[in-house]
Amino acid sequence: MSPDRPLKLLDIGCGEGRNSVFFARNGYDVTAFDLSKAGVEKTRRLADKIGVKINVFKADVNDFRLEEEFDILFSTGVLHYIPSELRKEILENYKKYTSPNGIHMFSVFVNKPFIEPAPEKEVYAQKWISGELFTYYHDWKVEFCTEEIFDCMSSGIPHKHATNRILTRRV
Ligand SMILES: C[S@@+](CC[C@H](N)C(=O)[O-])C[C@H]1O[C@@H](n2cnc3c(N)ncnc32)[C@H](O)[C@@H]1O
Repeated sequence: MSPDRPLKLLDIGCGEGRNSVFFARNGYDVTAFDLSKAGVEKTRRLADKIGVKINVFKADVNDFRLEEEFDILFSTGVLHYIPSELRKEILENYKKYTSPNGIHMFSVFVNKPFIEPAPEKEVYAQKWISGELFTYYHDWKVEFCTEEIFDCMSSGIPHKHATNRILTRRV
């Protein structure tokens, strides 16, 4: 059944806007932010080119806090920029401002002792502990969660990453 209004979706760390634009094209009411001014501008340009409306702005995930409700929070490849000591507070804020029956869809990079660090060093990034993300959702309905290891060729050197993904619902 289609919702009776466009669902409000927040893309946290939207990069150049590929996912935000996909969601907007599919009828979601999309808000997005990223630390990178260039990423924000590219997202705006892509949205204009495709002919969709996105409310996109520059913000740091570590400073940004929700003050209005969203139906869906989405983030991929970004939440490792949140240092471990801020994660509880930020995820509690996200949970508080998620509408009843709303969902979070997140994927985070995780450390596995048998995977070598990636060649491109990111000073501010802090990978999650494997399984850590799931612990914040013990009181929500976890619809889906996985751990995946995949090959990556960024920087031209073959290496691997591990991710945890979760799709979880406020009931
Ligand atoms: C791997 S990209 C993922 C982009 C997008 N989610 C995607 O899947 O295409 C990581 C993004 O995180 C953004 N980023 C890094 N630190 C951030 C921070 N502190 N707050 C918000 N965004 C940040 C970068 O600018 C970059 O666009």
